[in-house]
Amino acid sequence: MQTRVLGANDLADIVTAVGLDRLLDELIEALVHALDDHDEEVLVTPDRDGFHYEKPDLGLLEWMPSMELGRAVAIKTVGYHPTNPVQRGIPSVLASTALYDTATGELVVLAEATLLTALRTGVASAVATDILARDGEVAVGVIGAGAQAVTQVHAISRVRPLSRVLAADASAANAESLGERLAFLGVPVEAVDAERLVGQVDVLCTCTSVDPGQGPVVPDVEHRPWLHVNAVGADFAGKVELPRALLDRALVCPDVRSQCIAEGECQQLPVDAIGPDLTQLVKHRARYDVHRSTTTVFDSTGWSLEDLVAVEVVAAHAERLGIGALIDLRPDGSDPYDPYALIRRRVGW
Ligand SMILES: NC(=O)c1ccc[n+]([C@@H]2O[C@H](COP(=O)([O-])OP(=O)(O)OC[C@H]3O[C@@H](n4cnc5c(N)ncnc54)[C@H](O)[C@@H]3O)[C@@H](O)[C@H]2O)c1
Repeated sequence: MQTRVLGANDLADIVTAVGLDRLLDELIEALVHALDDHDEEVLVTPDRDGFHYEKPDLGLLEWMPSMELGRAVAIKTVGYHPTNPVQRGIPSVLASTALYDTATGELVVLAEATLLTALRTGVASAVATDILARDGEVAVGVIGAGAQAVTQVHAISRVRPLSRVLAADASAANAESLGERLAFLGVPVEAVDAERLVGQVDVLCTCTSVDPGQGPVVPDVEHRPWLHVNAVGADFAGKVELPRALLDRALVCPDVRSQCIAEGECQQLPVDAIGPDLTQLVKHRARYDVHRSTTTVFDSTGWSLEDLVAVEVVAAHAERLGIGALIDLRPDGSDPYDPYALIRRRVGW
């Protein structure tokens, strides 16, 4: 078996062939399906782990493993370095995913996963929004108008019609430029301050790179009673985006309970105040219909299951379309008991 390598150009080729909207719809459907069927004995997602450091700048490198028993293992490595865009001109979040065959341990796919991470993070918010946000057309607000904001708004547009988008950011340039980045949606996008924004939206996505200890970024001002928040940015100990008072008014739904207690908005809550997780929301969605008229929060810290789903969807398209370079990372298999076999032949022992 050769390894299929999917770089940014290959992913763009897949998007061109499939269509960006259709790919998002497929990812939404695949995630809902994975959650509906979720059985922890079959879909195994050990806690992520990694290195967190403050030098040369605050950052982390983590590995996020997931396994579908008897079939596939995906391991995403993801870096978060919030000074990257301004200091180095590269994204804050950089990722790659390796997909293995569990029958043999062979590396099947190695994929650029910065785009996949943004897509699957938007998709998780879309799934939560579809269950918890009010029906009909919605005004969406984003606080933190960086990379994740683009896929948050795009993915939400696949589950609700959008009336308009309001954007707030510590960087006026980023808030102003979101309109250009989302122009393809054909929805008005306006940069406003966070105080004005919160009172005027039905769905709010927070995706800032605020430093640990510097939050919240959402002002505690009056909002619509049915406000649904996708809190995406808090994924680091000490980092929060929402005011405690808003959490206290809301049904708070973590993606991964233990992770959200350690790194998400749930850091601020007693454990017994935390609501159903994303799997429970999807499995029992009718039960949560009543919350479409109340305040709700999806506490998104990012789940390795979402990465497995995303890489499998694009890997299937890549194989069908013949996209991606096939490279040979296999060992010499001429004698499985002799790691020196190839060298022996080369040097003529
Ligand atoms: N939940 C998940 O699965 C998931 C996935 C990817 C990224 N994230 C997190 O989402 C956050 C955003 O990621 P990104 O890739 O969009 O980063 P980014 O660097 O592209 O954008 C972050 C934006 O936040 C703005 N910002 C920083 N501090 C702010 C503040 N106090 N108020 C308002 N705006 C502020 C920045 O100016 C920037 O525009 C990061 O914390 C990242 O770790 C979460």
